[in-house]
Amino acid sequence: MAVTNEHFQAALQASNPSALRETVVEVPNVSWDDIGGLETVKRELRETVQYPVEHPEKFEKFGMSPSKGVLFYGPPGCGKTLLAKAIANECQANFIGVKGPELLTMWFGESEANVRDIFDKARQSAPCVLFFDELDSIATQRGSSS
Ligand SMILES: Nc1ncnc2c1ncn2[C@@H]1O[C@H](COP(=O)(O)OP(=O)(O)OP(=O)(O)O)[C@@H](O)[C@H]1O
Ligand SMILES: [Mg+2]
Repeated sequence: MAVTNEHFQAALQASNPSALRETVVEVPNVSWDDIGGLETVKRELRETVQYPVEHPEKFEKFGMSPSKGVLFYGPPGCGKTLLAKAIANECQANFIGVKGPELLTMWFGESEANVRDIFDKARQSAPCVLFFDELDSIATQRGSSS
């Protein structure tokens, strides 16, 4: 038995980057069709998140830089997490999902280090979508409770 380049090519399609093994997430089974309404939001997300990953050469050709990020906001239950799941499923990129509180530790400086590590990992496995859920838990305004 001999291993040839074809075997590598076949394996590439089935295996995940080893850099993501610790943070590997199950890509949820939600598609754009599962989200009712919100047509403009869906279209905007496709344009800002999906297109740069799927057609990077077009962005280069027209000298556009892809958007760096999207912030979802809205009352509880309006579908923010659901939209992120749909992106993870529909976008052919690596996906790292983080719940805000997961990054927090009681030790000084360690929470920041965790954030840096996550971005390092995402950079290594580009193209990669990084999703912080429940960001309000780590980014509350000092001295305010709302
Ligand atoms: N547009 C929608 N179409 C179909 N289901 C929806 C839609 N919006 C919300 N839901 C349903 O409502 C539930 C709550 O939505 P989700 O968890 O995404 O809210 P959220 O905005 O993340 O809330 P929170 O701020 O509490 O985290 C989901 O299980 C989802 O099935
Ligand atoms: Mg949520």
